[in-house]
Order: sequence, then structure tokens, then C-alpha cells
Amino acid sequence: MTRTALELVGQADLGYSFDDLTEGVALHPYSKSAKQLVPLSFSMLLLRMYLSSVVVKLGPLKFRQFLVNMIPWKTMHRLRDVVDVLHNTSVEIFESKMALEEDDEVFKAQLSQGKDILSILMRDDMAASKEDKLADKELLGQMSTLTFAAMDTTSGALLRMLDLLSKNQGVQDKLRNEIREARQQNGDLHTG
Ligand code: HEM
Repeated sequence: MTRTALELVGQADLGYSFDDLTEGVALHPYSKSAKQLVPLSFSMLLLRMYLSSVVVKLGPLKFRQFLVNMIPWKTMHRLRDVVDVLHNTSVEIFESKMALEEDDEVFKAQLSQGKDILSILMRDDMAASKEDKLADKELLGQMSTLTFAAMDTTSGALLRMLDLLSKNQGVQDKLRNEIREARQQNGDLHTG
């Protein structure tokens, strides 16, 4: 379900395919890292609550990264690695979209047809006035938030739904009949 949810979210949020869902192929590193983010950050709850507002003001990013690397705390290093995977994946996708900008016509065509949230956001951002434009950093932040917020929730909801359906045959039969009836009346769902 994690794999499925990441692919649903990748296409709907970012217009990007993480995984063609072929059996036996290794998980995208984003899946594994996203699953670890919440448990790891909860194990550093006190630090996050009381120290992070101070730590973020400590000198430039490079200096804070140096501090994190130097402090011998395994959990923090694991969290650092998770955050790096999530952030670097967003940067990679963002850069692959921006690379298209070189060819203005292809870029505009892709953005104008894209129904994913990122294309809509970038389309609106291109039309926005100078003071309303988002910095690249803000666009990246939106990508990571949306992908993370959508993935774990969707995989959990799908899993719970299938688990309950597997234990409640009557409900499963009712749902199956409703879907069959809807298909007979309206045909298959189309993505176009
Ligand atoms: C079954 C699936 C989902 C569940 C159960 C779920 C649940 C939640 C919950 C409980 C919150 C916190 C609300 C609050 O207390 O303020 C939230 C916030 C949020 N969710 Fe979801 N969510 C789901 C799917 C999604 C998807 C698909 C997206 C993106 C496309 C998404 C994006 C967000 C964002 C951006 C927020 C933060 C909103 C804000 O604070 O401004 N979620 N979600």
C-alpha cells in the first residue's frame, strides 16, 4: 500500500512517476524514508519542542549541518539521512521540471496540460505578480509537505479499508455489487 500510495501521490501531486509497480523491483528510497520520519522525529520530541527554534538561528546552514554531523547521536543522524532523502527527491523532481524550461514551448505545453498540483502551482506562479511569486525554496517546501502529508495517510487508509473489507464479507459483497452496477450504468472510469 505504501508503494501504491507513493505512486498515486507522485502522479496526482507532482506529475511524476516514482515506480511502475513491477513485482520484485526494490522500493523507491522515498517510501522507506517517509515511513521513518514520524517515528524518528517523535523520539526527538523534547529537542524539537524546546531547542529547534533556537538551533535554526545558529549561523548558516553549513554550520548547523556540521554541528549535526559532529554530535554523536545515532537517532539524529538517522533523522538527518531521512530528511536528506525526502528533500533531495523533491529537488530532483523540481529540477527535472525546471530543465524543461529551457525549451519554453515544451515547458508551457507540459504545464498547461498538467493536472497535478505542482503543475497548477507552477502555472499560477508564472502568472503571479513579482511580489506574489514563490521562491524556489517555497515551492520545494510545498512539494515535500504535500507528498509527505498525502502518502502515509493514503497508504494507512487503503490498508485499513482492505483489512476491514477482508473481515466483513457482507460489506465486501455489497461494495462489489455497487461497483458492478455503477460500471454497467456508466462504463469504466476514464482518466482523460
Ligand atoms: C486518507 C487520506 C488522508 C487523511 C486521513 C488525512 C488526514 C489529515 C489530517 C488529520 C490533517 C490535520 C488536520 C488538522 O488538524 O489541521 C491533515 C492535514 C493536511 N493534509 Fe491530509 N489527509 C489525507 C490525505 C491527504 C492528501 C491526499 C493530501 C495532499 C494532496 C493531504 C494534504 C494535507 C495537508 C497539506 C495538510 C495540512 C493542512 C494545513 O495545516 O494547512 N492530505 N490531513
